Amino acid sequence: MFIYTRPKPIHMVNLAILISGRGSNMEAILRTVKKKKIPIKPAVVISNKPDAKGLKVAQKLGVKTAIVDSTGLKGGSWEYDQKLVSLLEENNVTPKNGLICLAGFMRIMSPEFIKKYQGRIINIHPAILPAFPGLHSQRQAIEHGVKYSGCTVHFVDEGVDTGPIILQAIVKVKDGDTEESLSKRILEQEHRIYPKAVRLFAEGRIKTRGRKTVTS
Ligand code: GAR
Repeated sequence: MFIYTRPKPIHMVNLAILISGRGSNMEAILRTVKKKKIPIKPAVVISNKPDAKGLKVAQKLGVKTAIVDSTGLKGGSWEYDQKLVSLLEENNVTPKNGLICLAGFMRIMSPEFIKKYQGRIINIHPAILPAFPGLHSQRQAIEHGVKYSGCTVHFVDEGVDTGPIILQAIVKVKDGDTEESLSKRILEQEHRIYPKAVRLFAEGRIKTRGRKTVTS
């Protein structure tokens, strides 16, 4: 009998997760890694906010944390992102072996940073892109009166929420939904598809052709 086993990637991917607050997506990823469902090494969780709740959660899960305070530094600045690069390098998350997950990281990355880690930065967004990019996407969805919204995991490029889409999940908008109630149901889907996308990346199963990704 012929049994096909997927060849293991030669190098384990080193994971950095960037957060600004609660860190529930970070937690979903780390818990899935812990259950050995993702062949990836969590190297560091970095927050730009010293009081981000997610930092404690990461520590409880045994993952190293660091703070690169962004107070007073405008989004998109290379000055800030260079500090991130130093920290990533110290933790062996490099443009050759790294994956950088933005998980509620509320800062625009500089073009220099994106170029350096091209194809290795992914983000979760609480809407079906290209609809409702930017901030308060769930509120935008409610106010627009859409019947369906959801979430998107995508590669990060130089635009705001414009990079190639990896996975999406649909959530029905109910009559009477508020920003909070819709956000809650979207978040459940975020926690499902973000770890899944990280696994696809870690196993080398995402190919990008222009704007399109193909997963195997
Ligand atoms: C999530 O809903 C995520 O999709 C959103 O922030 C929340 C972070 O929650 N991200 C964005 O809006 C990015 N534009 P978490 O800290 O509990 O993961």
